[in-house]
Amino acid sequence: MSGGARPSLLVTRRLPAPVEARLDKAYDATFNPDDRPLSPEALAAAFCKHDAVMPTVSDRITAEMLQAEGRRVQIVANVGVGYSNIDVDAATQAGVVVSNTPNVLTDATADLALLLILAATRRTYAAEKRLREGRWDGFSIVGGLGRSIQGKVLGIIGMGRIGRATAARAAAGFGMEIVYYNRSEIGDLPFTAQRLESIGAVMAAADVVSIHVPGGGAAPLVTADHIGLMKPEAYLINTARGDSLDQAALVAALAEGRIAGAGLDVFANEPEVPEALRALENVTLLPHLGSATREVREAMGHLAADNLDAFFMGTALPSRVV
Ligand code: DGY
Repeated sequence: MSGGARPSLLVTRRLPAPVEARLDKAYDATFNPDDRPLSPEALAAAFCKHDAVMPTVSDRITAEMLQAEGRRVQIVANVGVGYSNIDVDAATQAGVVVSNTPNVLTDATADLALLLILAATRRTYAAEKRLREGRWDGFSIVGGLGRSIQGKVLGIIGMGRIGRATAARAAAGFGMEIVYYNRSEIGDLPFTAQRLESIGAVMAAADVVSIHVPGGGAAPLVTADHIGLMKPEAYLINTARGDSLDQAALVAALAEGRIAGAGLDVFANEPEVPEALRALENVTLLPHLGSATREVREAMGHLAADNLDAFFMGTALPSRVV
């Protein structure tokens, strides 16, 4: 960055040390040492105090903040590919730039989707629980059986970057057949996949459904009716956003055995995970770990910093949302 006062930046959560050091050098940066979400009031106040905010999925950036009188923030550089935490329409109206961190987390998130597919279909949570509770009474040919995924149908809802990477792994590494729903047909997929006409058609056809849509809509894209179309021996995986599916309907379907199981890394109202869901043995639950590797979190931080640097240098942002 050239001459003049350094732009004032609020970083809402802890970032990997090399990223914090970089930001500290280039900006008049305020960090949140607690690594807990700031209160909505503190976040709103920050919008009138700083030139830039670097939030994560745990910070809700509202129209009130973006359109507040006396707002000083010019850019919201999200550390995350998903930006359903930000009112992007309000940002557009207010002329606030929003950026995100795509690509660098695609592989890690697809890896985690596969981990959940395997955990769900091989029922590893129930088995590990039995063992840790001292209830394992030895090897059995007929006990603890899961299902093989070789030759089964994986239904992808949302064939964006992460949906494709998940499908590619499942097809090449595990011999799954791929069907998908995506608003538009995708011509250049490096694996064989059939696009079906609706979410319902994918839900009904698949042995495993994996959700890869952004969330943040007024209502869940994957509804109770869609879940009702799934086969009783099918599994549902979500590594996207908790509000992409009707969570209450999923809990009911799992509790009543209307589907075989699920693997969830995201929840409707994080960090709240309903007791009814936590009590179920046919679901593997992870605390939003899709991109959680050291390498990837550092890359995400640097990409968010690249976006900030470009903004304040007046050059094109590597990944601008609006
Ligand atoms: C993302 O990048 O969207 C992850 O879910 C973390 O926010």
